[in-house]
Formats: sequence, structure tokens, C-alpha cells
Amino acid sequence: MEKPLNPVTKALHARIETENANPAVTPIYQCSAFEADSPFFYTRKNNPNVSELEETVRILEEANFAIASACGMSAISMTLELLKPGDTLVVDPYIYGCSYRLFQRISERLGIQLKTADFSCEKDLEQISAKTCMVFFETPTNPFLKTVDIEKVSERLKSLNPKGLVVVDNTWATPLFQHPLKHGADVSLHSGTKYFSGHSDVMSGMTLTNREDLAQEFRDIRFYGGAILAPHSAWLTRRSLQTLNLRLEKQQQVTIEMRDFLRKQSQVAKVYYPNVDGKQLTGYGGIIFFEFSDNLEKHYQKFIQSLKLFNTGTGMACVTSMVAQPYSGSHASMTCEEKEQIGLGENLVRLCFGLENPDDLKNDLTNAFKLLES
Ligand SMILES: Cc1ncc(COP(=O)(O)O)c(C=O)c1O
Repeated sequence: MEKPLNPVTKALHARIETENANPAVTPIYQCSAFEADSPFFYTRKNNPNVSELEETVRILEEANFAIASACGMSAISMTLELLKPGDTLVVDPYIYGCSYRLFQRISERLGIQLKTADFSCEKDLEQISAKTCMVFFETPTNPFLKTVDIEKVSERLKSLNPKGLVVVDNTWATPLFQHPLKHGADVSLHSGTKYFSGHSDVMSGMTLTNREDLAQEFRDIRFYGGAILAPHSAWLTRRSLQTLNLRLEKQQQVTIEMRDFLRKQSQVAKVYYPNVDGKQLTGYGGIIFFEFSDNLEKHYQKFIQSLKLFNTGTGMACVTSMVAQPYSGSHASMTCEEKEQIGLGENLVRLCFGLENPDDLKNDLTNAFKLLES
């Protein structure tokens, strides 16, 4: 007769059978290891929650492949790993400040030629040459929400170097309103920490491509570099994506109303909102910029302190409204000269609108504007 197991051993191996239970949502697979011959194998390679998140974004962006990572910066880093010493990378300077700094750091270390070009300006496309191996940009741009014509950039690069890669950070446009791969991009990537999460409670990144070779390369880079996100983060992000369309519709509506309101304020010199052309960009969410008039930026601290409904933390595109000064926030890692070169001054303010009632937001801003002049 088999000797009964010691209770400690038995407890260690206790499992509940869930085969036919059909849970209403996929549970969190909080485990690092799977059966060696399963498609998951080890959570650094893959995990059911990560796969489900990837599939969700892949469907929304109508891409062939999606590879999730720990955050937006890891998605960008994975893309940079495609480059090798001696390659030329051309980036648009109107991008998130940390991305810009990352390009500088990596280029210096790896001996990559780094050039900048304002891709929203046709003349600057000449910066792309037969030596260019990769171009990187955001559209709408950050800041100023200018449009980069993805097709034009792609045509220029491919005509000079068919192997060159077009990489678009699609975070601000979202998979609902822009599909870079359909316009000639090789890679579209996201900080899922923004609209995907929408609640400022989880970080994630996503890299999309239609090319199988690139997808495999990204999976290998993620596996060896350890850039995968945790199952719980994947689960939370996937859950939030279920309301992405509702949040974006509402944010779009609130933002248009707030844009029109801001344009009427004497304390505001200019409001930036992107060109929603219905072809490349078919809608737009909640992130806009305005410039103070009459040097009112001197009172920026007073302005944000008097706002009651706008949080000042790092973050955006969530259900509550946020205010930030790109000069000292998102672009703090750029030097003063670099910021000056792109026309980024202390008078620029970024507002991200959440799901609050627009009348409440208008009242809050009106009070803060009035205090500036008192
Ligand atoms: C456009 C864009 N890309 C990438 C990132 C980096 O994303 P994460 O903070 O998730 O690493 C950000 C962060 O603000 C961003 O705005």
C-alpha cells in the first residue's frame, strides 16, 4: 500500500479542478511557470493574461501581431534594439521628452548617428537619406499636436532605403482613431499607461507590426531582456480596454467643448488641437495645449493651486482631468536650448480632460483664470 503523504507535502500539491467552470472573465494567471511544452512555458516568455491583452489591442489596431511590454518606454527600447552601431536614426524632436533623451543616450553609447527632423514640415523630410535605418515620430506631435503624414514619411524612406523602418508612437491617437500600419508604418507602439489604462492605476506598453519577422524579433528581445509586463498589469489593462471606446467618445466630446471655451478666454493666447482629417486621424481624445497670454505663465503655480478638479501628477488620458507644464514636466529631460529650438516655453500648458461634467471644468478654469489677474 502507498504510504500516505505528509500533510505538508499534500498541502503543497493541493489544486482545485477548474476545467469546466468557465469563469466570466479570464482569471489572473499569477504564476511564473507553466508546463514546459505549453505555449506559455514561463511568464517572462508569455502568459495567458498578456496574450489576451495583446489580442485585444491587435484587434483594435487591425494589426497582424501585438507584443505587450512593461510600459511605453520598454516598447520604445525594444524597437531601438533593432538598431546596430553605425546605423542612422532620424527622430522628430516633437515627442515625449524621455523618448528624446533615451534616443540620445542609446545613440551615444552604441555609436548610432542620431538626426532630428520636423516631419510635419515637408522640407525636413530631406533629412531622410539612403543611410536612414529608422525614423521615429509621434502624430499628433507632442507638444503642439501637429500632423505628420505617415504615408509621406514612409514613401520617402522606402524609396531611398527599402529596408528602413518607420516607427510611430500612436499613444495619443489611440488604436481607435489612427492605424499607422495602414499608412505605411512598420511598427506602431503605445504607452498603455495612458488611454488603455485610463484610470492612472497600471503601466503597460504595446508594440504592433504586420511583419512576422519583426514580431518574432520583438518577442525574442522581450524574452531575453525581460521586458514583459506582470500578469496583474496585463489583466487590469485588458479590463480597462473594455471601456476604451466609451471613455474616448466622452473625452472627445468634453475636449471639443473645452477647446471652444478656452479659445474665448482673454488669458489664453492660443489653443492647440489636432487636425482630425478623417483619413489618417479619424477622431481625437482628451489631451490639448494652450498658451497663456500677457506673460501670465509667471503665475503658473498660482494657477494650478487654484484649480480644484485638475490633478497635477505625472500622467494623462485618465477619467479625471489633469494639468501639466510640459517645460518642467514631460520635457524636463530636454535641455533649455533643445526646448527653445522646438519653441517650447514656460507659457505652454497641457490639459487632459477626463469624464467630469464640462460645466464644472469651465467653472474651475474660470475661477483660476480670474485669480491670475487679481
Ligand atoms: C507618447 C508617449 N510615449 C511613451 C511614453 C512612455 O510611456 P510609459 O510612461 O508607459 O513608459 C509616454 C509617457 O508619457 C508618452 O506620452
